[in-house]
Amino acid sequence: MKSQRATDPRVSAAFAAIPRKGFLTDSERRYADKDRPLPIGHGQTNSQPTTVRNMLTLLDVRSGHRVLDVGSGSGWTTALLGHLTGPAGRVYGVELVPDLAEWGGRNLASLGMPWTSIQPAGPPAGQPAGDGVLGLPEHAPFDRILVSAEARKLPPALVDQLGGGGRMVIPVAGRLSVVDRDADGTVDVRRVGHYAFVPLR
Ligand SMILES: C[S@@+](CC[C@H](N)C(=O)[O-])C[C@H]1O[C@@H](n2cnc3c(N)ncnc32)[C@H](O)[C@@H]1O
Repeated sequence: MKSQRATDPRVSAAFAAIPRKGFLTDSERRYADKDRPLPIGHGQTNSQPTTVRNMLTLLDVRSGHRVLDVGSGSGWTTALLGHLTGPAGRVYGVELVPDLAEWGGRNLASLGMPWTSIQPAGPPAGQPAGDGVLGLPEHAPFDRILVSAEARKLPPALVDQLGGGGRMVIPVAGRLSVVDRDADGTVDVRRVGHYAFVPLR
């Protein structure tokens, strides 16, 4: 189930500026206008447009923000976030599947937004590989974090990457959650609707 909420006009402008079809495979491009998730390979999807609109409206991204996009997949959300921050901001996409990180990075690069980038998930260059690196702690703190895969519990590692006054929108156990962190580190969590997502791994 999903709920339709009023879309922020800035989010509508981002949707108009960043067509979804540039972030789909050749065979799925003809379905770009359909309001449903579309496969991008590796068992993953380009998210349903209504869901992305709702998440970005809740995220309330402002010009100049530093933003983390966890699960950048096709690169579409990274590009939408880049439109919302504008060139004064910085958007870091991170993707677990290396092939998708590469493909999503190419899709994104075709738009010429040098304040946006996508990198594969993992430890920073030069550090040993290991499990459990979530997000991009080396680039924290972030003003906003968007997570497009569902966590079983709210991940403290991502809450830690939010700066004071920061906000994260993340699906947790079937509910979309809005996580606000204030300047003294107090964290407030609001659950706003039921959504289905691929799992955060
Ligand atoms: C719904 S899909 C892609 C949505 C994407 N924002 C888009 O617009 O195409 C979610 C993505 O999250 C990725 N993912 C899952 N767990 C992750 C993690 N721990 N770190 C980074 N990416 C992850 C998956 O590989 C998948 O590509």
